Amino acid sequence: MATAASTSKTSRKSTTQRAAPGSKSDAATNLLIADHRKVKALFRQFEKIKDSDDNAEKERIVREACKELTIHTQIEEEIFYPASRQILGDDDEIDESLVEHASCKELIAQLEAMHAGDDMYDARFTVLSEMIEHHVEEEEGEWFPEVRAKGREQMPELAQQMAARKEELMGSVPSKQ
Ligand SMILES: [Fe+2]
Ligand SMILES: [Fe+2]
Repeated sequence: MATAASTSKTSRKSTTQRAAPGSKSDAATNLLIADHRKVKALFRQFEKIKDSDDNAEKERIVREACKELTIHTQIEEEIFYPASRQILGDDDEIDESLVEHASCKELIAQLEAMHAGDDMYDARFTVLSEMIEHHVEEEEGEWFPEVRAKGREQMPELAQQMAARKEELMGSVPSKQ
């Protein structure tokens, strides 16, 4: 369960019933949370070598994070966000998350056109990682729990759809060189 990040704006959570940990109704959000963990691990790897000249390793980390994030945001936008909108109705937080995706995509596009060692390469990836940390905190802490609770029956089906789509996209989105 990803609740550690939710330190602010708890009003919504308090009205939300939580699913039992490990239950099938966690399946969809757990899939997304696993992606979040993976990119956060890449951010930490980058942070460790940020002050070094190991450009090859920096670029490997950035490429992998960008690919993961591209596929992750696409799955959210194609499947999870529209389903969440149906479950929650109009929701400011989903709108805000979409705006954040757009900003992240801009940075990803810039990074994919660059190479480690270029001016602003490290700065852009650091800002991307900060934006994603904030974004993930809001998804996991603010609105995923409500979608999970209110859309309990849809979650296993959504998880299947997202897993299938991810497999498809992993095979089709090349790592940019
Ligand atoms: Fe997202
Ligand atoms: Fe996400």
